[in-house]
Formats: sequence, structure tokens, C-alpha cells
Amino acid sequence: MAKLRVAVIGCGAIAIRRHIPEYAANSNVELVAFADPVPGRAQGVADQYGGVAYTDFETLLREVKPDAVSVCTPNGLHAPVSIAASRAGAHVLVEKPMAGSAGEGEAMIAAAKAAGKFLMVGHNQRLMPPHVKAKEILASGKLGRVLTFRTAFGHPGPESWSVDGKESWFFRKQDAIMGAMGDLGVHKSDLIRWLLDDEVVDIAAFVGTLDKKDTDVDDNASCILRMKSGAVGTLVASWTYYKGGDNSTILWCENGVLKIDTDPNDQVIVELRNDTQERYRVGAMATNEKQTTSGVIDAFVTSIVTNTPPSISGEEGLRSLKVILAAFESQANGLVVRV
Ligand SMILES: NC(=O)c1ccc[n+]([C@@H]2O[C@H](COP(=O)([O-])OP(=O)(O)OC[C@H]3O[C@@H](n4cnc5c(N)ncnc54)[C@H](O)[C@@H]3O)[C@@H](O)[C@H]2O)c1
Repeated sequence: MAKLRVAVIGCGAIAIRRHIPEYAANSNVELVAFADPVPGRAQGVADQYGGVAYTDFETLLREVKPDAVSVCTPNGLHAPVSIAASRAGAHVLVEKPMAGSAGEGEAMIAAAKAAGKFLMVGHNQRLMPPHVKAKEILASGKLGRVLTFRTAFGHPGPESWSVDGKESWFFRKQDAIMGAMGDLGVHKSDLIRWLLDDEVVDIAAFVGTLDKKDTDVDDNASCILRMKSGAVGTLVASWTYYKGGDNSTILWCENGVLKIDTDPNDQVIVELRNDTQERYRVGAMATNEKQTTSGVIDAFVTSIVTNTPPSISGEEGLRSLKVILAAFESQANGLVVRV
């Protein structure tokens, strides 16, 4: 079978650390082109992996006509680049948050549908081994209903992650649309929806900028969520956990508690009301410092090769985005917002 011709648009941190090496390791893929407006950035990866370098993604799409595209640009470009790629006849894997508004998300879904191509969103938290294990335990029913939860994602901020460091687009609203909420909060709105197999119906949130300088985006958010099932819980996103980074989730259920990433060795712990304990060592969560294979790229390629719609679809990405957008609305109006 002919290999899938893949292009990567945006050649910064996530492209270099995950998308490009994971495509390169996939035997169904040929990396054919890269685009990045910063001179030398696309060429640098083309020199290492083969393929043609462009400074302009539109020329890439027109000249290369790739079968599939990863969109790894700043958030504000996710919608225009994804829509252009769909119109050029490519399957699209777009990074999170999928868009800056619900309208953009809907337009991306419509463009992929009109082209008869897939749209997948890079919500890699769903594929991390501790979360896969937790989902399996919840599905077994042994814990009963989830009653309340807390989920959090905090680290020191994108300064040490983005290829542009302190000067990064991550700190500019025009390019990023949102700060810690778009970077980290949307990971957790997606995770909690998926883990609980439930939808957020109401949200109350405080979102603001507590410590980062020279920025017009949020660096912290604390939210209270009410789910369709009636479960209530909290979601926290922070760029100011300068010490004590957190990527943990705890679910208190009818029959006990499920703890994810609260212990350095055992990533998933179940404590039942009858005092029995189960501890699972299933592999660590990826951190900025320690990357593990995300699995997102392989899942995208498998979808295309087997002609099976991706489970982390545009529609899923949009529902997770809408939770975050509602949190901003709650902050702006001082109200509990119906998602
Ligand atoms: N799934 C995850 O865990 C995860 C982790 C980090 C980042 N991300 C997402 O990935 C996306 C990229 O983030 P990053 O960390 O790689 O940022 P980055 O700052 O390291 O890289 C962004 C790159 O996009 C390039 N770019 C800007 N305008 C462009 C254009 N018009 N065409 C092509 N490229 C363009 C920049 O020059 C830069 O090289 C963001 O949406 C971010 O939210 C996801």
C-alpha cells in the first residue's frame, strides 16, 4: 500500500517533540513537507527528516497536496489553517484548543465534512496510560457512580516550552486567544468529559492573570463544574505552579476513590470503602521535561489507513472547547453559565 503523504504546519515545540518523530516512526507515513514562517525552522526539520520546506502553508497545500496534515501553529491559526487543509483535500489533525470560538470549531467540522476527510483534535490526555487504566476501572462499575471530583493541570508556564521562549505567541491574546485555559484547562475539560462519559452542563469560574508580566492572557483559572449526571467537581488550570506541578485527577465515587497521578510510582490507585486498595503501575504521564509517545499520531494514521472516523473528533474537541469558553463567560459576567 502507498504510504500516507503527511505535511506538518508549524514547526515549533509540539511538532518537533511529538508530531514529527511519531510520524517518522510510523511505517505507513512519508513526511513530505513542513511549513513555518520563521526562516530556517521548516528547513531544519526537512534536513533531518526529508521532505520540502515552506515558509507559507498555503503554497505548501497547493504544491504538495498532502494526504494528511498536522496543524501545530499558534491557537489563533488553527481554524484558518485546518479549513484550508480540508479544502485542499487533506485529513487534519489539529492541536488543542481546536479553535478560538465555537463558530470557528463548527466551520472546521463543516469543512472536513464537505471534503469527505477526517478532522481529529490532539487531546492526548485520553491516551495517557494512567487515564486509559482509570477509564477501564470506571467502566468496570466497581466504584459505582462518580459523585464528586477534582482535576488539575498546572506547570510554570510555556516560557521554557515554546520555541520562542518568553517572547512566545502563548502570551499574546491575538495569537493565543486564551492562556492557561487554552493550554491546560481544555485538556482537563476534555479528560473529565471522556473519563466520566458525561457532559458539563454548568460552570462557574474565576479566570485571571495573577503573576505573568507583559501578557494579556490568563495564567490561572479555578472552576466549578456540574455534570449532566449530577456529579460536581473542580477544574484548575495554572501557569504559576513554579514548584509542585500538578496533572492529577481524583474521583470520589459511591464505593471508593480513584486517584490518578497522585503517587510518584503507582499512577492509578483505587481505595474501596471496604478498605481494600489496588495500585497500578502503568507508565508515567508525559511532562514538558519528559516526553513519552503521545499515541495521538498513530491513532490519526490508523483512522485514515482503516477508514475509521477518529474517536477524538472535531465534535469532541468542540464540546471540550465550549466548556472553556463558558468559563470565560462566567468570569466576565460573574454568573454560573450553562454550557
Ligand atoms: N497536546 C499537547 O499536549 C500540546 C502541548 C503543547 C502545545 N500544544 C499545542 O500545539 C500548538 C503549537 O504549540 P507549540 O508548543 O508547538 O508552540 P511553539 O511556539 O513552540 O511553536 C509554534 C510554531 O508555529 C509557527 N507558526 C506561527 N505562525 C505560523 C504560520 N502562519 N504557519 C505555520 N507555522 C506558524 C511558529 O513560528 C512556531 O515555530 C498550540 O496550539 C498548542 O496549544 C499541544
